[in-house]
Amino acid sequence: MPPITFNVGPSRLSAEVLSDIKLASDERIMELSHRSEEFSKISEMAVKNLRQYFRIPDDYQVFYAPSAVSSMQSAVSNCCRQRSYHFVCGSFSDMFAQAAASLGKDVNINEAPIGEMNDFQNAAIPAGTDFIAITHNETSTGAVCSMEDIKAIKEQNPEAILVVDITSSAGAVPLNIADADIWFFSVQKCLGLPSGLAIMIISPRAYEKSLAMEKNRENLAGYYTFSRLQSKMAEKYFTINTPNILAIYLLGRQLDRWLKNGGSEYIFEDTKQKYRLWDEFISQSASFDFFVSQQERRSLTSLCVLADENLITRLHEGLPAMGYQVGKGYGPSKSRTFRIANFPAIKEEDVRGVIKVIRKLV
Ligand SMILES: Cc1ncc(COP(=O)(O)O)c(C=O)c1O
Repeated sequence: MPPITFNVGPSRLSAEVLSDIKLASDERIMELSHRSEEFSKISEMAVKNLRQYFRIPDDYQVFYAPSAVSSMQSAVSNCCRQRSYHFVCGSFSDMFAQAAASLGKDVNINEAPIGEMNDFQNAAIPAGTDFIAITHNETSTGAVCSMEDIKAIKEQNPEAILVVDITSSAGAVPLNIADADIWFFSVQKCLGLPSGLAIMIISPRAYEKSLAMEKNRENLAGYYTFSRLQSKMAEKYFTINTPNILAIYLLGRQLDRWLKNGGSEYIFEDTKQKYRLWDEFISQSASFDFFVSQQERRSLTSLCVLADENLITRLHEGLPAMGYQVGKGYGPSKSRTFRIANFPAIKEEDVRGVIKVIRKLV
């Protein structure tokens, strides 16, 4: 049996998702034409369930994208005229800033010390900034910001398009979609699906700005402008390119199940319950510590744990034979840390099980 993985992505797939994959194969879903009525129905179910699960306001649009990184690129290309401002607190938020720089934007960076979250209150955002990027859950360090931080930045900068990367938190924690213009995430984290699909949620302001930039020949999205994505979506929940049909099918079914089983409130409670087990274990252990020292900045969904390098090696080498696997560290803190996914597919008994085994290896 392969070990139960606590990797932060690709992450554990639940028994239900594995059986959906089997069903998709039996029903030959992946052979459907992406211009067929059957696909249209599958896509409609995914979009409607996304709207319901994430409480997406009616005037926001939902688009598919290939990945979170491509969503960064799409957000910048469609909605940043010239000056972007990035709250950088680790490798993924830094990648977002680099994506904007690679498109020739005038990039300003607010950098948090490693293992901390940005100081949102004292951010000096230059005049003329037309695009602001926040990473809600910085997966490389396990630092998280709050919905209040996001709302405050939006209120203080009403002219700019505010974009939030929710890749490693979406689905497990509450989000206030109306408080930002663009949200995006890929599905291989909390949604517990195979990689290769991302979701972009777009406000009317972001959409209008993309249109205006298109008219002025400032839009860098090429064939993938929001207007073209929208017109395909409006047709029959279609996409410009041949999409990841399997992932869209799995997404619709996963959210359907979650909505029938208590919805986002249930998933959030379960996430907090499992986090408490980790918190108790790490806080009481002499061998481990959270990489993020400020308690309220610690992620509930992707934990980053500090430990001695030899112990980390022992965990990576020893755990698989005992039925588990934890995630490797990432970025500058790679050798000093390991990471733990606290995603919905992981059961409380799995958390108790891996903690018991880690105790033996310490
Ligand atoms: C916060 C964050 N943003 C972006 C990405 C990139 O996601 P993808 O590989 O789906 O493009 C990741 C991947 O771990 C992430 O954690």
